[in-house]
Amino acid sequence: MQLVDLATSLVRNLEPETAHRATIQAMKRGLGVPAQRPPGADTHKVKLPVSGLELPNPIGLAAGFDKNAEAFSAMLGFGFGFVECGTVTPQPQPGNPTPRLFRLNEDRAVINRMGFNNEGLEGFVDRLSAREQGEGKVGANVGANKTSEDFVADYITGMKAVWRYADYITLNISSPNTPGLRDLQGKSALEDLLGRCGEAGKALASAHGFLPVFLKVAPDLKDVQIADIAAAAKAAPYLHGLIISNTTLARPVTLRSPHKGETGGLSGTPLMEPSTRVLAAFKGEIGDSLDLIGAGGVASVEDVWAKLAAGAQAVQLYSALVFEGPGLIARILAEL
Ligand SMILES: Cc1cc2nc3c(=O)[nH]c(=O)nc-3n(C[C@H](O)[C@H](O)[C@H](O)COP(=O)(O)O)c2cc1C
Repeated sequence: MQLVDLATSLVRNLEPETAHRATIQAMKRGLGVPAQRPPGADTHKVKLPVSGLELPNPIGLAAGFDKNAEAFSAMLGFGFGFVECGTVTPQPQPGNPTPRLFRLNEDRAVINRMGFNNEGLEGFVDRLSAREQGEGKVGANVGANKTSEDFVADYITGMKAVWRYADYITLNISSPNTPGLRDLQGKSALEDLLGRCGEAGKALASAHGFLPVFLKVAPDLKDVQIADIAAAAKAAPYLHGLIISNTTLARPVTLRSPHKGETGGLSGTPLMEPSTRVLAAFKGEIGDSLDLIGAGGVASVEDVWAKLAAGAQAVQLYSALVFEGPGLIARILAEL
């Protein structure tokens, strides 16, 4: 058993949020991080056609693990092709009361209602801007403060702050844990958001250079909503791709864990099938006009292939790390 796997099994016996904090602290210090990226980490290169994003391999760390941009170097060291930091909001905020993170061991799933707990843009940007060149691709996932009176203005504040330091930006409108946020997926709200953020993106690109922007959507969408979101995304003045998907509010009947009734977003294995179905539906609407990144339930090389077959050019994972530890990435890369 490798040191990192041993550490993973120790950490799994801790209360989930304590375990997460301990992991981030260890990663910040580089503990257990391999001296070299594992085989395959830089030999499965992909270039996303619309955004032009060049990735050393198509497996990314999804947002929410490194909310404050503290551990991206370590996570790249484990072999991820890209790491998405955030969600970061303009102002620091505490998030929801604890407990707010639950492991569903029997289901290989997680429920979280974190509520965008994060330290705000200032420190996030400091750490991102201190990044060493060539360290790997790092995205910045931006969101809105819970008490904000103008959610769209918060996204624009985020875009402006991270533009010069990130490799791409994600507009996260799909967290189920900030009241009203998912309403931004509605047709006219989305057109307003993509219009205003798009104009901001165009201005930032002409001032500081091109940067791809992605929109992250929920899996809980009916066909007509998928069609509306796809149409708005295609018509947006400055948007290069979609990340499909965030966590789900659904509770499949197959869930067995005692925590299945907790409020929040469900992720991990039970999300694989529904999120891949929504990804394929978006692919049908979008064709080749936007890049698609698939997230939700990825835990094996077969899951990676399934997302790529459904139309994604790259994938992201998070929950599988809770059960498998970061050594999972080397194992997937070895089979890719
Ligand atoms: C504890 C936790 C926190 C998360 N926080 C965020 C977040 O801040 N922003 C975001 O866009 N997605 C967040 N997510 C969603 C993940 O990025 C991902 O979209 C989702 O978990 C599906 O992937 P998975 O099944 O591999 O975990 C979070 C997920 C978990 C489990």
